[in-house]
Amino acid sequence: MTKLFSSLFALAVASVTSVAFAQNTPAAPAPAPVASIESKVAMCIGCHAIPGYQSSFPEVHRVPMISGQNAKYIAAALNAYKTGDRKHPTMRGIAEGLSEQDITAISDYYEKRGKTEPVPEKASREPSPQVAALLQKAACASCHGANFSKPIDPSYPKIAGQHKDYLFVALKAYKSEGQSVVGRSNGVMAGISKQFSNAELKALADYVGTLPGELQVQPQSRFR
Ligand code: HEC
Ligand code: HEC
Repeated sequence: MTKLFSSLFALAVASVTSVAFAQNTPAAPAPAPVASIESKVAMCIGCHAIPGYQSSFPEVHRVPMISGQNAKYIAAALNAYKTGDRKHPTMRGIAEGLSEQDITAISDYYEKRGKTEPVPEKASREPSPQVAALLQKAACASCHGANFSKPIDPSYPKIAGQHKDYLFVALKAYKSEGQSVVGRSNGVMAGISKQFSNAELKALADYVGTLPGELQVQPQSRFR
């Protein structure tokens, strides 16, 4: 009898305790969904993190390297696609889906992923006399830096070592006017690129693209 009572008592205590326990520790509130940076850049990897990945629009060229680029410039570029100042249709579609916070987070993320070897202060390869004259005509180094990797303002791009076929497409885009899906409206670079023929822009792109720089393609495997 005593045995039965004591076990009933034990059972009662146990159930009260478990009720109290349940009341004192309600299920932890679900944390507000915060998208990880990996999920924010997951979409970018498919084009920007594959070595040699090419775009065929408006002509075949490698997709620009963005790892190691200045965060302020990346943000400015994404905002330009968003507003339509840059007309590239794919990048417009992508930028339209990014919030201001996404753009800030993504830009900071990519800025920190450049090459770590220091770039010589002065362009380490002498340009041909023809290219030297073109560089001088528009004072490219006065904004992009003596090594083309240290622009005077962080909202300006590093261009040293960027894919030369992309540099050529970009330079022509600043020149193009009145087209619906090709072109970039940027007051500074429009005035500059219009001073040159396409052959001259190609010579400039070929030179700048062969210089050592901080930009790189960060392969997807690094994320795993
Ligand atoms: C389908 C392929 C593709 C995807 C996906 C993609 N990009 Fe791009 N991106 C491009 C191409 C092509 C260009 C060059 C556009 C141009 O000529 O203006 C570009 C240009 C850019 C530029 C300008 C680079 C410069 O030097 O001016 C930035 C910044 C950029 N992309 C960031 C992103 C980010 C961030 C994502 C993911 C949220 C992303 N891209 C996803 C193909 C892609
Ligand atoms: C007065 C300053 C200035 C000068 C001079 C200048 N640039 Fe630029 N450049 C800029 C700025 C600012 C941008 C970014 C424009 C934008 O946001 O689209 C830019 C963008 C570029 C880009 C696009 C890079 C990318 O990743 O898409 C290339 C290529 C470029 N410049 C090459 C040159 C060359 C070559 C010269 C000389 C012929 C030159 N620039 C002279 C300021 C300058």
